[in-house]
Amino acid sequence: MTLGGNVAVVFGGSRGVGRACAALLAERGADVAVVCRSNLREAEVTAQAVRAAGRRAHVVQCDIADDAQVAAAYREVREALGPFRLLVSSAGVTTAFTPVRELSPAQWRAYVAVDLTGTFHILHHGAPYLEAAGGGCVVVVSSIASQMVPARNAHGAAAKAGVDALVRVFAKEEARRGIRANVVGIGLTETEMGARAVESWHPDTLKRVVAGIPLGRIATPEDVARSVVFLLGDEASYITGKVLQVDGGQFIGG
Ligand SMILES: NC(=O)c1ccc[n+]([C@@H]2O[C@H](COP(=O)([O-])OP(=O)(O)OC[C@H]3O[C@@H](n4cnc5c(N)ncnc54)[C@H](OP(=O)(O)O)[C@@H]3O)[C@@H](O)[C@H]2O)c1
Repeated sequence: MTLGGNVAVVFGGSRGVGRACAALLAERGADVAVVCRSNLREAEVTAQAVRAAGRRAHVVQCDIADDAQVAAAYREVREALGPFRLLVSSAGVTTAFTPVRELSPAQWRAYVAVDLTGTFHILHHGAPYLEAAGGGCVVVVSSIASQMVPARNAHGAAAKAGVDALVRVFAKEEARRGIRANVVGIGLTETEMGARAVESWHPDTLKRVVAGIPLGRIATPEDVARSVVFLLGDEASYITGKVLQVDGGQFIGG
């Protein structure tokens, strides 16, 4: 998919990885709809970065856990920016690392409602728009937790494993309509969410995590954005249904 001249919808675009994706997409010539849950001020900061790159930006507020809000957000973007062919989901919430026996059912439901069911809403309501535009590309930001299954993060591991499977099934179903869909699985990344996760760990855990990363550092949002934009663009024209772990080498093994 050529990025220049196309319109991208970035869920979770107000902060962190989503903001970096929006900024890089604009740099590569795309107009961007910046979707946030509630943080309009931060979403406007992202929109300004898009405009500074010479592209159009539109800020939309929606809770992806609510399917009617996702449907309304797409209608608003179509009205404001025209047909769109690029979708990124980087929206997600934090729940402190907690063992299964201590995680409340309400905490579990709240996490899954956003990270897994919210992703379903994005794909379900987005697919007809991509088809109507003549095809499109989707990248969903997930987590290496789906493969690593870290203790005290059953909610993250299970929801993101669901996201990975959901996107792969979607890719299989939509390929014949000219729609590609892939996942970028990330580890600890320098965002507000990353900082909150670290706060809920034992003080030594961060050192242990960094020591286990062959590239020797945690990811920046820009590291992740470059991979997302690669998968959206023409260089990835024959790649669909893949989970690309952008993890500094944590899955090399050995
Ligand atoms: N950072 C890490 O260490 C890490 C590690 C593994 C996986 N991930 C995954 O990577 C993705 C991006 O994370 P991040 O670190 O960039 O997070 P972040 O900095 O906390 O940003 C989260 C984004 O999601 C939006 N959001 C949250 N709940 C939403 C909802 N119900 N409806 C719509 N939007 C919602 C937020 O909007 P508002 O600004 O309006 O709240 C914000 O734009 C997430 O899927 C996360 O699970 C992150």
